[in-house]
Amino acid sequence: MHDFTVTPYAVEGDVDYDRLLERFGADRLTDAQIADFPQPAHRLLRREVFYAGRDVDRFTAAATRDETVSVVTGRGPSGPMHLGHVYPFYFAKYLQEQTGAHVYIPLSDDEKYFAKDLTFDEIHEYTKENLRDILAVGFDPEKTRIIVDTEDADVVYPLAAEFAKELTPAAMEATYGTPPNVGLGFYPAVQATHLLLPQLVHGPHPTLVPIAVDQDPHVRVCRDIAAKQRHDVTKPAALLSKFLPRLGGGGGKMSTSDEAPGILLSDDRETVREKVAKHAYSGGRSDLDEHREHGGDPEVDVAYQLLFYFFEDDDAELERLADEYRSGELLSGELKEYAADRIADFLEAHQARRPEGPIAEVVDPYRLTDAERERLRPGVFG
Ligand code: TRP
Repeated sequence: MHDFTVTPYAVEGDVDYDRLLERFGADRLTDAQIADFPQPAHRLLRREVFYAGRDVDRFTAAATRDETVSVVTGRGPSGPMHLGHVYPFYFAKYLQEQTGAHVYIPLSDDEKYFAKDLTFDEIHEYTKENLRDILAVGFDPEKTRIIVDTEDADVVYPLAAEFAKELTPAAMEATYGTPPNVGLGFYPAVQATHLLLPQLVHGPHPTLVPIAVDQDPHVRVCRDIAAKQRHDVTKPAALLSKFLPRLGGGGGKMSTSDEAPGILLSDDRETVREKVAKHAYSGGRSDLDEHREHGGDPEVDVAYQLLFYFFEDDDAELERLADEYRSGELLSGELKEYAADRIADFLEAHQARRPEGPIAEVVDPYRLTDAERERLRPGVFG
């Protein structure tokens, strides 16, 4: 059996998603839990891409009763965004439409400065570009707040300081290993702050954190803190996803630094077609006659998996493709073309919604209001 590593800072090897849950102590979602989400459930839930959770029941109960709920999902701005980065945001927007959830979107520029070999200038360029992509998703400005750690340090830092006091170095090491610098050692207190912000602004209520499973340690740490400190907050729930498959196949996560390139949100149709045609791992037979006779395997075919994960919403259409592929009627190249076109359709619509103009103006409707800032930051001078 291949071994694998999954931490917020490294994903290596073929990830065994069930064994990972044992390691992390999270639970696979049951059919009943999926049915408890506001219906119709997003395809990411129906198809168990979001496959596990920690304490989701309070969230789903409140969401279906129309009570106050919130969703926090963020971005570490260390490069241009690719397909694997964007689906939690589309999921959050879907929940916002269904439930009126407050959505908080933190950008951890400090974290990426600590973790990567990048200058703050470089990170800030990525932050601005990433923000345009996040806003292209179409969140409701009344109910959505964007926080950039170094820009919103007036509210983030005092809270992170309070929470850092609850974290011992031993607990941190047990969760993350030895950090490469003290910045990254402190950062979990910052991400805990992110996850508690909606409750600190709007009072205690269920918060859901839909994220890739590698981020679960941050949620665990935050849940421990939530139980200990002086604020009136409940523990945020985690909704954990598998990684969008890499074009090259295998069990790791899509990454911009792989040999096979990731598909960027800025890619045009031609580029998507080329990347998929050239790099997408095929579950088809290498020989045409053999493929016609024995058929292909959609389970390992990355073009099919991309459709399954996100890009084909229609369950019946997806099943038809799988059947035709298995029977040999549909060829690998045809499946790739179909997938590339669905991805390109998605990207063209996304790109058309991407806001232009000065970033400060673009982001302004989504920043914390003065009243919210006051609530979060009891200042020295009033
Ligand atoms: N740490 C996350 C990453 O590296 C980004 C992030 C910051 C985040 N704050 C968050 C994700 C809160 C989810 C919730 O990608």
